[in-house]
Amino acid sequence: MCGIIGYVGQKNAPDIVIDGLKKLEYRGYDSWGISIKKAKSLVITKKVGKISDFHDSDSLPKGSIAMGHTRWATNGPVTQDNAHPHTCCTGMISVVHNGIIENFQSLRKELAHHTFTSDTDTEIVAHLIEDNYKAGMDLQGAVRMALKRLEGRFAIVAMSSEYDEVVAAKKGSPLVIGVADDGYYVASDIPAFLDHTNEVIFMEDGDVARLASDLTFTDFEGTDISRQSKPISWSVEQAGLDGHPHYMIKEILEQRHTIKEAVSHSDAKILKVADMINKAKGTFFIGCGTAGKVGMVSSYMFSTIAKKHVNDVVGSEFPNYHDFLTPETLLICISQSGETADTLEAIEVAKKKGCKIVSIVNVMGSTMMRMSDEYILCNSGPEKAVCSTKATTAQMAILALLAYACAGRFEEGKRVLSRVASSIDVMLDENYLDEIQFLSKKVAGYESMYIIGRSQNYPMALEGAIKMQEVPYIHAEGFAGGELKHGPIALIQNGTPCIALVANDAVKTEILINALEIRSRGGYIIGIAPEDNDIFDFWIPVPDLGIASPIANIIPIQLMSYYTALEKNCDPDKPRNLAKSVTVK
Ligand code: F6R
Repeated sequence: MCGIIGYVGQKNAPDIVIDGLKKLEYRGYDSWGISIKKAKSLVITKKVGKISDFHDSDSLPKGSIAMGHTRWATNGPVTQDNAHPHTCCTGMISVVHNGIIENFQSLRKELAHHTFTSDTDTEIVAHLIEDNYKAGMDLQGAVRMALKRLEGRFAIVAMSSEYDEVVAAKKGSPLVIGVADDGYYVASDIPAFLDHTNEVIFMEDGDVARLASDLTFTDFEGTDISRQSKPISWSVEQAGLDGHPHYMIKEILEQRHTIKEAVSHSDAKILKVADMINKAKGTFFIGCGTAGKVGMVSSYMFSTIAKKHVNDVVGSEFPNYHDFLTPETLLICISQSGETADTLEAIEVAKKKGCKIVSIVNVMGSTMMRMSDEYILCNSGPEKAVCSTKATTAQMAILALLAYACAGRFEEGKRVLSRVASSIDVMLDENYLDEIQFLSKKVAGYESMYIIGRSQNYPMALEGAIKMQEVPYIHAEGFAGGELKHGPIALIQNGTPCIALVANDAVKTEILINALEIRSRGGYIIGIAPEDNDIFDFWIPVPDLGIASPIANIIPIQLMSYYTALEKNCDPDKPRNLAKSVTVK
């Protein structure tokens, strides 16, 4: 949610910043801006629209220090004035920011002697720095003093026309430093500078970094601290489109191998987490959006496989449970980015009660990973499309394996997951894609669609609805098959597309009956199932995976979401109003 990049070094900084912003665009894409140090002034360019539509880097001044921002609006509408960077009254200080400054209204009143040109919370920071600057502090000191006034979560990068440096600070929102022979990079996420270096330092909350001819760190009080860089294994190819038209289809197709990679962890790692779950008195699975649905599927898997009751709660609602938390409670936090503010807040609430935290995350070095007592990486590589696909199935695979490990059936679990991985690889062939593309042409003609599932496929009905909402903007809803007759069936009209998620499990007959109930009222039934059935108007085959069926069943809906978006001329990678990494509450 908002992408930041800054650079100080020997290369042309504006080129690096514009290129980096294009790689960060998945974090926000309603407007963008860049601040370039040119002699003793800052040249600022801001535009409404997507940075990917900007092809005129040559029009920008050259320089060795610059920073930029791609915005997902929170405070203030999408306008050029509200785009970052924001400046102080004289224009000599500029600031970019990701996060929310919660006390911005009171600070704005306090700073009434300044001239404000935007509605944002970020502009406050520029004026706070300006006052500190006037009081005689250097840039780093002025930034540090300003930070102490801020409440909320933030990642901030600041520049001054008087200093050959960039100052970066974080509390709650991510910032990572890239260390290269040519200079220093700071960004919200590694792909922004992965073309230049894979040597990184994940900034910790409370760090202030000064990027100049050297790289130094202090805490918010100004005490020097030391941070070591380490190499990261992500490659430029993994982070790029690799010949695909969009990240979304690239990432869907990568599920041919990502399930296998997701469960490629040492036995000791999986068994250790399983042991933590077995010993905990009260386990909560926490996630938001799609990751929340993964938590829900996992609660079914733990019931069925491990005969274990676990609670699944969405991150934003978890604080309601604080009375039930003890040092023996375990939180399993599920997240692609590891930066989702609502899940991080759940961790903060739990930590205050002494609970143990395990995270299942995709982004190495993320805040969530670092806040956890133990973590399991999804190993999916960068997920750049806003909607989550490959990280979702990776998380489900890991959690299924954990359920088997908790049940003392670890070897069986490994065999099951290996079969899941290979059958998805086989499933995703060209004919399969063509069939779903064909079906998507029909789906695109409807405003609404419904998805039903039972048992462990009920959460996948909810997840499928998210996929159809967020990318092709179809009004999709997921229901437990048994709930239809309690209200939603009234929505079915002639031809309404309805997906039935069917597995060879104990509820197969019931879900088929529910599909028939819809068909009898004119609904068009798309069956996602291992076998065809007369009830289906259209059959999408999936491998017969029993309890692991949700891992395969969601993939055709991911594809349908992608192809339906193409039919409707929607940008699959950058859906309207959304952003990857939801770093605000
Ligand atoms: C939907 C989607 C979101 C995320 C949610 C949590 O496709 O991607 O619902 O799942 O914002 O994000 P992470 O997994 O990064 O915590």
